[in-house]
Amino acid sequence: MDKRIQIYIKPFVLFLLTFVLISCTKYQNSSSTDQKVESLIAQMTLEEKIGQMTQICFSMITEGRGKKLVLDKQAARDAILNHHVGSFLSGTGSEAEWISFLTEVQRIAVEETRLGIPLIIGIDHIHGANYVNEGVIFPHNITLSCSFDKDLIAETASLTAKQTGRLGLHWNFAPVLGIAKNPYWPRFYETYGEDPYLCSLLGSTFVDAYQQNITNNFSLAACAKHFIGYSDPVSGWDRTPAYIPMQTLYEDFLPPFEASLNAGAKTVMLNSGEVNGEPVHISETLVQGMLRNHLGFDGVILTDIKDILKVVEMHSAAANEEEATKLSIDAGIDVSMACDAFRFPGIVKVLVQKGKITEKRIDQSVRRILKLKFDLGLFEHPYPITDEIARPDDAELYQSAVKAAEESIVLLKNDDALPLTPNARILLTGFAADSKKHMNGAWTFEWLGAEEERQPESMPTLKTAMQKKFTQINYLETPDISSTSGVNELESALKRCDVVVLTIGEKSYSEFKGNINDLNLDENQQRLCRTAINSNKPVVFILVEGRPRLITDFENDASAILFTGYPGMGGPEAIANILSGQINPSGKLSFTYPRNVAHHSTYYHKPSESYEFLYPFGHGLSYTQFEYSRLFISDTLIHDVSQPLSISFDVKNTGSKEGKETIMIFMRDCVGTITRPVKKLVYFEKINLKPNETETLQVQFKPKNVFSYSNASGDSRTENGEFIFMVGTQEESVWLKQK
Ligand code: BGC
Repeated sequence: MDKRIQIYIKPFVLFLLTFVLISCTKYQNSSSTDQKVESLIAQMTLEEKIGQMTQICFSMITEGRGKKLVLDKQAARDAILNHHVGSFLSGTGSEAEWISFLTEVQRIAVEETRLGIPLIIGIDHIHGANYVNEGVIFPHNITLSCSFDKDLIAETASLTAKQTGRLGLHWNFAPVLGIAKNPYWPRFYETYGEDPYLCSLLGSTFVDAYQQNITNNFSLAACAKHFIGYSDPVSGWDRTPAYIPMQTLYEDFLPPFEASLNAGAKTVMLNSGEVNGEPVHISETLVQGMLRNHLGFDGVILTDIKDILKVVEMHSAAANEEEATKLSIDAGIDVSMACDAFRFPGIVKVLVQKGKITEKRIDQSVRRILKLKFDLGLFEHPYPITDEIARPDDAELYQSAVKAAEESIVLLKNDDALPLTPNARILLTGFAADSKKHMNGAWTFEWLGAEEERQPESMPTLKTAMQKKFTQINYLETPDISSTSGVNELESALKRCDVVVLTIGEKSYSEFKGNINDLNLDENQQRLCRTAINSNKPVVFILVEGRPRLITDFENDASAILFTGYPGMGGPEAIANILSGQINPSGKLSFTYPRNVAHHSTYYHKPSESYEFLYPFGHGLSYTQFEYSRLFISDTLIHDVSQPLSISFDVKNTGSKEGKETIMIFMRDCVGTITRPVKKLVYFEKINLKPNETETLQVQFKPKNVFSYSNASGDSRTENGEFIFMVGTQEESVWLKQK
């Protein structure tokens, strides 16, 4: 053959051969997911495998390493092509910015890497699509949980999924499943309250609704976090040591995770803190033992942010990062949220080369990660899917945010002050009265909550929402009560009003930024409250706060009190609707409102402990009243715990307004060899009743499920004896006599 022709043909044939080889060997489309995963693993280099285990913050590949979603293509290529990064997280911007950013970054992974494995992108959409400028901002979980409404949680989850998924964000670091036992803990508001059963049901509802297919072959992953024991540090401060007996971990802290994993949660994030002297990230007892073996979780386990390094720098539990990395991988982590450094892949490679970690162990993690990417449909749909997933309508999103807040806000006290009359002369003041930021709280466009100018334009503040319902609103910017002019200004405004609406609480904060030493309100707010009360005008307190700040000193003198938490973009309108009587409040506290600076207990405390509270768990008033009667239990002597037990009772609306009531059934196990709580929630349901309407409810239980509890090894035990069921004012006993 002519030499010149040979020169041209040779490279062409080589190219063709390589192309055919790559396309054939990647994986067969017709094969099962497991086969595809194995086929990819067989072709991956060690570096490519470790890259899949690495998650990097987007701020490492943006122009100028800034917050704006503008891709620095060279940095992105370096991360993806040289470090083989398989996952990124965090960012904030408009829908259009997210779409173009994620399209480009995915394109590098899909088109420029050898095997074309798509990236998986993580985000903290913990109360709506809160990192998207046009996103819906729902109340934070502590507020939502006061709705005791699973359908509502499902609706918020599914709208969040739709707004998130279409942009190409696939992995949501939600829900938080810690139980809020410690009112000082700065992440209290991210939880569904103090009760394990409520957290289990709401958390698993979120997971289920969030992970539903949003198109025929595309879904999203939730992340059950932060496993385990994060929410009850002894000091109350973020990421400080927790000492929780294994029995309590099994009985109280594990159920929300168990329920979410049973609902199919695909991933789990670990607790940054230490529990019983062991950083969770290197705890074989908690990660291998409890999560992998006891719960049988075989999905992806993710570290929290930079947490392998924290094993060295925060916990001093490993001499260096290499040792910490080995310990974390031995404990069971699959993905390291390394965030701002590429050290993790290098360290893991060295560990494998030294024989300290086997490649087989690396393959286990890579297998889980690739399976997750296949299961989510990422290989078919790596890019934003704006054509297939309908963009929820802005008005629909806003209305759903209003409804979420209306169903959740809790009327703690009402001395006939509410509803307010439309033409009352209302003095409105306090830090959140004309603020969107403080209604939305942290994790809204920014970790600490974006400034006022970046909050949703169409969202009202409480001032503008109230101006639509009431004719005479006198808004006063929070006066500085330490100055005479501030006092004078307030006193003169107080003289000219019929009623005061005062927002008090705490400005938004996240994680360690919210550590406090005192549950009391700050000095200025305390003085503001006293001055308002001393005016002898009725004072309505609106509590805008992430945890229950103390109001004991003036509670007695308040005319009405609403707990709103951080109620989100629908919060101001919802509060105005409740104040005007257009909406009858129906929220109930998902936590105990404390009375004292110290001595806090949950409603499920032990018999030897007293329960001191300002308002108990489950408390919440309505503009109508409900009466419970005719509690009846199908069997009062039980021999077989697998036979269903039925409990029925009547609930009547005895007031003059239509309203919603959350029915809660509690149970007390009267004698237990491991001391039993005085009562525990075993069932709840929210119903709507017209004036004079009565509903008979019948609830079926499997006694095994409610009578049993875990011992320190996680084994379930059921003991004979008396059990008391309580609903409203009614109670009835049943006896268990197993042969
Ligand atoms: C938080 C996690 C969060 C992660 C990523 C951490 O500081 O503890 O809850 O998912 O950051 O933003």
